[in-house]
Amino acid sequence: MRVLNICNLKGGVGKTITSVNLAYVIAHVHKKRVLIVDNDKQGNTSKFFGAHSYDHPSVADLMTGAKSVKDVIRKSIHAGIDCIPANMTLLSANKAVLMDTMHPQQTRLKTAITAVAEEYDYCIIDNAPDENMSVINALAAGDDVIIPVKVDQFTFDGVDEMIQCVRQVRDNFNERLTFRGCVITSYRGNEVNVQGAAYLKQMEKYRLMQTHISWTAKVDESTFAARPIMAHSPRCWAARDYKRLAREYLTMIGDPCAAPAEGKG
Ligand SMILES: Nc1ncnc2c1ncn2[C@@H]1O[C@H](COP(=O)(O)OP(=O)(O)OP(=O)(O)O)[C@@H](O)[C@H]1O
Ligand SMILES: [Mg+2]
Repeated sequence: MRVLNICNLKGGVGKTITSVNLAYVIAHVHKKRVLIVDNDKQGNTSKFFGAHSYDHPSVADLMTGAKSVKDVIRKSIHAGIDCIPANMTLLSANKAVLMDTMHPQQTRLKTAITAVAEEYDYCIIDNAPDENMSVINALAAGDDVIIPVKVDQFTFDGVDEMIQCVRQVRDNFNERLTFRGCVITSYRGNEVNVQGAAYLKQMEKYRLMQTHISWTAKVDESTFAARPIMAHSPRCWAARDYKRLAREYLTMIGDPCAAPAEGKG
């Protein structure tokens, strides 16, 4: 199981939309078994997959060790994708982990998901806009990191810190962890976007991915419908772009299945 982290310290840049849609494309177009982990107390990814609840165990229970991963995983409403949901209980779980210095604190999520590593091809983790214990755990469990960025006045806020955090986790807990690049989301092709993209591209440290995700009103609509964009509006620009992004990522990591399965994509 290959573990991809989607993270950025900044909120509202498209982390959840990117996680949900990459998961959907990798499952439906590339026919992989996908586990999506909602690692944000807001629970937005869980809502997309019909898995948000306070009656069912969540990622918080993996952090505290209260439940085993098999008790927490839920079948999602989309074939080929299972979900580890999150809800507000993650807040107190993070505090509990911080207090509990008697047990390893940074590798709890890794230990939990390793138990199902043979059951999935890809695991995609949607992170909170934070560098909290949950995010550190996600990075310690990961192979790859993609940072979504939205080109605006505050684009670069936190990106350097996030890259630094990835480096620290790699040096201390997980030598496999690789920063794969930034991806521009909500791209409108106006002057600000074009200049911002050119700047990001020229700064090698950001490893700007070739694919930009176009802005389209259909994405907001898809959040109300709680459906990935490919299911909601398969022909819109963002649906096309997420297919490209999945292919770019799969090619980058050398997955021979980067070409979509017959008749799809
Ligand atoms: N390509 C796009 N086109 C139009 N709107 C978009 C696009 N991508 C994301 N959005 C919108 O931007 C908002 C933020 O997206 P999203 O929830 O994915 O961000 P986030 O980084 O996960 O936020 P948070 O930090 O709060 O978890 C949402 O309303 C979403 O619909
Ligand atoms: Mg989010």
